[in-house]
Amino acid sequence: MENRSTLSVIVALLGMLSQCLTHLTPRITFSIGSPGRHLTRFSNHDVGNTTTLLLSEAGDMLYVGARDAVLALDVSHEDVITLRNKLDWSPSDKDLEQCSMKGKNIADCPNFIRVLQFLNSSHIYACGTFAFSPRCTYVNSESLTMSMKPDEGRGRCPYDPYQRNTAIIVDGELYTGTVADYRGNRPVISRHLSESRRVDLKLDDTLGWLEDPTFISSSYIPDEEKIYFFFSEVGREYDFIDKFIVSRVSQICMSDVGGQRTLQRRWTTFAKAQLLCQADNELPYNVLQDIDTLPPAEGVPADETLFYGIFTSQWSVNSGHSAVCSFRLSDIRAVFSGNYKVLNRDTLQWSTRVQEKVANPGECGLHNASDNALRFIKENFLADDSVRPIDRHLTMVSTGYKYSHLTAQRVQAANNKNYTVLFLLTESGYLHKAVVLQSGAHIVEEVQVFEQPQPVKSLKLSIPKGMIYVGTSEGVMRVPTANCSFYWTCAQCVLARDPFCGWDTVSRTCVETSNTQISLAQDVDTGNVKETCDRGTFTNRVRFDPNEVSAGELVSVALNEVVRLRCPAASHLSQQLWERPNSQLSSDLYLHLGDGGLSFVATPATLGHYLCLSIENGYQQTMAIYHVKQKSGPLVQTTSSYTALQTLTAAKTQAAPSPSPGLHSFEFWPLLKKTMQGDIEPTVSSMDTTPVPTQRGLNLTVWTPEPGQTETDFVGGELLHSAREPCYLKELVVVSVLLVLCISLTITMFLYVVRLHCRSRTVPHTATPSRNSDRRTPVEHEAPRRNQLFNKSNRHSPHSGQACGSGCNGALTEGNGHLPNTPI
Ligand SMILES: *[C@@H]1O[C@H](CO)[C@@H](O)[C@H](O)[C@H]1NC(C)=O
Ligand SMILES: *[C@@H]1O[C@H](CO)[C@@H](O)[C@H](O)[C@H]1NC(C)=O
Ligand SMILES: *[C@@H]1O[C@H](CO)[C@@H](O)[C@H](O)[C@H]1NC(C)=O
Ligand SMILES: *[C@@H]1O[C@H](CO)[C@@H](O)[C@H](O)[C@H]1NC(C)=O
Ligand SMILES: *[C@@H]1O[C@H](CO)[C@@H](O)[C@H](O)[C@H]1NC(C)=O
Ligand SMILES: *[C@@H]1O[C@H](CO)[C@@H](O)[C@H](O)[C@H]1NC(C)=O
Repeated sequence: MENRSTLSVIVALLGMLSQCLTHLTPRITFSIGSPGRHLTRFSNHDVGNTTTLLLSEAGDMLYVGARDAVLALDVSHEDVITLRNKLDWSPSDKDLEQCSMKGKNIADCPNFIRVLQFLNSSHIYACGTFAFSPRCTYVNSESLTMSMKPDEGRGRCPYDPYQRNTAIIVDGELYTGTVADYRGNRPVISRHLSESRRVDLKLDDTLGWLEDPTFISSSYIPDEEKIYFFFSEVGREYDFIDKFIVSRVSQICMSDVGGQRTLQRRWTTFAKAQLLCQADNELPYNVLQDIDTLPPAEGVPADETLFYGIFTSQWSVNSGHSAVCSFRLSDIRAVFSGNYKVLNRDTLQWSTRVQEKVANPGECGLHNASDNALRFIKENFLADDSVRPIDRHLTMVSTGYKYSHLTAQRVQAANNKNYTVLFLLTESGYLHKAVVLQSGAHIVEEVQVFEQPQPVKSLKLSIPKGMIYVGTSEGVMRVPTANCSFYWTCAQCVLARDPFCGWDTVSRTCVETSNTQISLAQDVDTGNVKETCDRGTFTNRVRFDPNEVSAGELVSVALNEVVRLRCPAASHLSQQLWERPNSQLSSDLYLHLGDGGLSFVATPATLGHYLCLSIENGYQQTMAIYHVKQKSGPLVQTTSSYTALQTLTAAKTQAAPSPSPGLHSFEFWPLLKKTMQGDIEPTVSSMDTTPVPTQRGLNLTVWTPEPGQTETDFVGGELLHSAREPCYLKELVVVSVLLVLCISLTITMFLYVVRLHCRSRTVPHTATPSRNSDRRTPVEHEAPRRNQLFNKSNRHSPHSGQACGSGCNGALTEGNGHLPNTPI
């Protein structure tokens, strides 16, 4: 028991440590309706659950699998998405009646389209759940009419619309991963639509090649004529842990035609391996959520094909976190050509015993092999090694966002270097654009795509058109992959570190790198404005000269009034600071607010000029200048005179309904931009000395505190606040060490007492271990699991440990209790 609690404490500490080490904040937020990112939406009152997306090669037509319908959407126009054609395909009333008589919820009985693939140049192959009785059909891609009567879709499409599946058509043959029965417990990976002398194939299911899998995705690798399937399942090789989920990659060869006697009409090339998304000494992120294939750059060997996957964790310590791991095809190949685990047919236990290799599992072209070889193949399908991420590194860990879907793109930057850009969809409805860098991931921006959480989503990237499509229960959203014109100065353009965008020094605009041949100012790796925007001639910011900028926003105050000055943030990653000419801002007089603002009491000493600066990545910008003056007249006006306040609160309430705290849009940016364009020539060298807003500028300047206004409810305030929170690493380590010492002491004392107690007893204890008497809390459950993870070779049994909890501490007196591997 003590052991367990020690462990859970350590695990919790580990969790906190990892949390402490990673802070990934999107640099900028665009909420729904924000002018900086124009979203196009398609929705139609009689079209729902638009969650299967298929894009034509040129990116002009988007085919959508919806509820009781297949749609062809014309996406070639910039402003609108129009419905070109619609195929209605719904179960009859009789089908629906039968469906609900079988005890199914009537809302789940429609035909949810779950397979949508191009079959050839003229036809699409579509399958739907069809009232829990899946059907498939051929659809003409022009007219969107069925060209044949639908036939049975068993093994191609799930029965239950909530079950995940995967399907891919290559050379006219359909490869699927789905469950093939009504109850949902017969998973298969199979091939259909095979013609001429080839036969349809499926998995042999006598030995449990799959264990309650959730299919995620499939990928065709042309170079080796293989299809890879990605899924998560119960990891039977970890049978000492209850229902430990593992993520898998499995392969089959397209040339496979099954064995002649053994493995007839069954795969002879199926092999699977564990995908491990785990950093050293940390809990694995074991549950795969989505994975995308990034083909190699032109002229680079297929071995460099990369797979980017989102993983979450089965354990509550990491709940709400997600990790992105990337895997290299060459590493997957190496694992499949290595050793395989051995399955004991009687006990169904796995071991890693070295054995004579009768055949090479996973090898293509084994269909003519001997029965003996095929029997070997049949039993050896789980690779001994796990596929580890590139450089044994997690690409990205997010503690604040739970990602569900992703898509990856290689983007050629202005310096001709290629960067991987990931588009990640959060559970709460934001699309993050992250660029993968040597130093870690940088989230360039987040765009809100839906407001209500959506049960089933899908994501499709159109590289030729630079668009992302998000299919949800309610409709299809289109989001441009970038909007460079949103950045209106070189500094903004460079600080964004967006490989899509670079600064054109001739036209003085931030433009898409792909649209131009001229060299652009861009620094994706470090975002260094000084070096990039004004190479060589950059002068450091001159000190504030009150004569030069005597203007500034005029703030008239009465003495002893509390003054609050605002400092808008340039981004979620910037920090604001305040300066006064020739005087320090002593902490006795000034209060720095969480949102970057400044508060003080108006006294003769505090009247004068104030300069608000924003610093990001070592670059300083003047965001506002204020001139605080004493009011001349005897009339003391308060809040009513500050129209600014009202403007601000109005803007804020518009942007308010944000699902996660701290995510607000930069609604004031357009305002700021207008001011800038109107008043200042935004030249590079003047940028750092010229204040952004001027006399005529931003009205969001000063206001007296209102009841109910908190310090951190301004744009990005909270995020910035948390980002600046110190990391108590050292303290944590010291505390952990002390804690471990304390616990060891307690254990020693406890053992001593128990020993005395045991000696005094005459009758031996009779408690017996029983699986069913398991009454541990979930937290207690997890501790031994982790224990096992940390000591894979050292097989303690959680059950023997538990039995001892009720009597003498058996685990410690009897040594490590061996418990037979009990099948789950
Ligand atoms: C890009 O941003 C600019 C400036 O905010 C805005 O005017 C424009 O509509 C945006 N374009 C798109 C396609 O979102
Ligand atoms: C595509 O496949 C369909 C269904 O098998 C067939 O009717 C059609 O002729 C094929 N089209 C082409 C161009 O091969
Ligand atoms: C970057 O990608 C492009 C397009 O795939 C390719 O032509 C180019 O060779 C790549 N550059 C590098 C440095 O890999
Ligand atoms: C495998 O057997 C088939 C006939 O069963 C034969 O046509 C083919 O050539 C054989 N392939 C190899 C590689 O021996
Ligand atoms: C279909 O969409 C509705 C919301 O519009 C949602 O409640 C339901 O769960 C969805 N059904 C499936 C099978 O995704
Ligand atoms: C700022 O205030 C001035 C005068 O109070 C007003 O004319 C102007 O429209 C305001 N600007 C904005 C953007 O609200």
